[in-house]
Amino acid sequence: MKKLSLAFSCCLVSLLSFGQATKTTLAIIPEPVSITTKPGQFVLPKNITIQAGTSAEMVNVTSYLKTKLATATGALVTVKSKFAVPATIKLLLSTKTDTVLGKEGYELWVGVKGIVIRANEPAGLFYGVQTLMQLFPKEIEGAEVSHIKWTAPCVQITDYPRFAWRGLMFDVSRHFFTKEEVKQYIDQMVRYKFNLLHMHLTDDEGWRIEIKSLPKLTTVGAYNVKKVGEFGSFSPPAPDEPRTYGGYYTQDDIRELVQYGKAHFLNIMPEVDVPGHSLAAVASYPELSCTPGAENYKTRSGEHMMDFGAGGIKALVDNTLNPASEKTYDFLDKVLTEVAQLFPFGYIHMGGDECAKNFWEQSADVKALMAKENLKTMEEVQSYFEKRLEKIVESKGKKFMGWDEIIEGGLGPKAAVMSWRGIKGGITASKLGHEVVMSPTTFAYLDYMQSDRVMEPHVYATLRLSKSYQFNPVPDSADAKLILGGQANLWTEQVFTFRQAEYMTWPRGFAIAESVWSPNEKKNWNTFYPKVEKHFARLNEAEVKYAPSMYDPDFKPKMAVDSIMSVELMNEIPDLTIYYSFDNSYPDRFYPKYTAPLEVPKDATQLRVITYRGKEPIGRMITMPVAELKRRLGKGGE
Ligand code: ACM
Repeated sequence: MKKLSLAFSCCLVSLLSFGQATKTTLAIIPEPVSITTKPGQFVLPKNITIQAGTSAEMVNVTSYLKTKLATATGALVTVKSKFAVPATIKLLLSTKTDTVLGKEGYELWVGVKGIVIRANEPAGLFYGVQTLMQLFPKEIEGAEVSHIKWTAPCVQITDYPRFAWRGLMFDVSRHFFTKEEVKQYIDQMVRYKFNLLHMHLTDDEGWRIEIKSLPKLTTVGAYNVKKVGEFGSFSPPAPDEPRTYGGYYTQDDIRELVQYGKAHFLNIMPEVDVPGHSLAAVASYPELSCTPGAENYKTRSGEHMMDFGAGGIKALVDNTLNPASEKTYDFLDKVLTEVAQLFPFGYIHMGGDECAKNFWEQSADVKALMAKENLKTMEEVQSYFEKRLEKIVESKGKKFMGWDEIIEGGLGPKAAVMSWRGIKGGITASKLGHEVVMSPTTFAYLDYMQSDRVMEPHVYATLRLSKSYQFNPVPDSADAKLILGGQANLWTEQVFTFRQAEYMTWPRGFAIAESVWSPNEKKNWNTFYPKVEKHFARLNEAEVKYAPSMYDPDFKPKMAVDSIMSVELMNEIPDLTIYYSFDNSYPDRFYPKYTAPLEVPKDATQLRVITYRGKEPIGRMITMPVAELKRRLGKGGE
């Protein structure tokens, strides 16, 4: 009896501690609405049967799941239609709509004997599959068979998104990214339950979508001169430099991408950015400009072209469309006829940001328009343009969306607003009764540096992972029902390769995913960053690049009254130790440990630091020139 109870209590203890262990090892991003861990684990058999329906949408889910399992485990995976028994994984559509789960929610049960995912719609099953993948070992993300024990902890999960709009914007204009790269981006997005890819298809540097009625947009407008270094300050291209850098998507490519997105439960929203950011269009069709001499314009190759000074935005070359010319509206009608047919998504984004007005101010056409339409300011001129554009977009059966500048001269009747200059514009627009997507620079700009500027390609601002994680698309003062959701934006001026696009997106994309999917009250930095580390290991398996910047400290120089400089180092995550040197050698954990602001020795030229977790170096070796610290003090800058 005694023996029996001892055996029983051992068993109980091990069950309890197992339950405990599974709880602490779960690392699902974005965090589900509710997780109940259970004792035990499921082990994938050598022969896997998936039971599921056979509609086209269901096949998208089952073929995804089958490919993932077969690729990584080497198992024989068979898909059987409904009622096949026994099944390893059952994907069930609810017979009666579960209002809690909605269109994209799911329930997932992992038991010792099998796995069941239930949802109202195939989209929900797809997201259940994504969660299930994160319960399997990281090798599930690999492209080769791993001979490991394929277990998943027993759990019950109920989950559904906070927002229907969960997006990332990918700027394929500043640098062109191929169709295959865009597909890879979609692959990466959907693992984290994003459902909207916003493609910034046109800008000064390149027009990236074939418009059959306007062929010069791509024969001329899709190419510029290849330059390498820091975009924005490249030497102006010489006339004989070849304009062969770039590319575009044919209409077949676009259809293929849209189809690829659909198969992954993701929509693609096109953006045609007008009336500013339009040099590629003007270089192709100079009659769209209000400025004489536009026939000599060329697409931009990253040379200095815009001034963002205190007096407002000034273009050095007129990169705008003429708002006073019918040719502009005829052009946009043609573009939108084709764009609307290619993209089934309900919204077309028409840009509207950063439109320099200095050439409009000089234009006789624009002055005449102002007199005729009684427009008092340049913002009202832009508003006139946007309202006409909204009508064209609507005539194609689509909804019109623009960056928050379109609020300035008065919003069109049904315009939806994407708020990027903070959340202010979004709040204003929602109060005026307009739909809003939040994508503020303050939390959601993936082109910003993630670490200290000495560690990153230079961009004018920094956005740390922990700050991104604070993104809340519905601030208290907005009208919540009009906020469709949120997204992060990857502008690619300084992103020359797809590897760098990945680096800029992850892990901040995790923070955004959790901000747009998970309940706000479930977000917690102290539980999030350990999950990020587990997902780094998954990205390694998937061979996706990411930024390890959360291991880099921030440097805060201060000047004491006796003109001795000190520098404070701040870690983004708490359990790291920093070691440093001022003698130009590379520190390790046998060097001095940072405990308080460091006095910079009078003759030191650089501070080197590295972070450790215990005995393991975890951060990058950072070399901070003392001159750079002094420069920051002088400017008081970041
Ligand atoms: C923007 O970042 N110019 C929308």
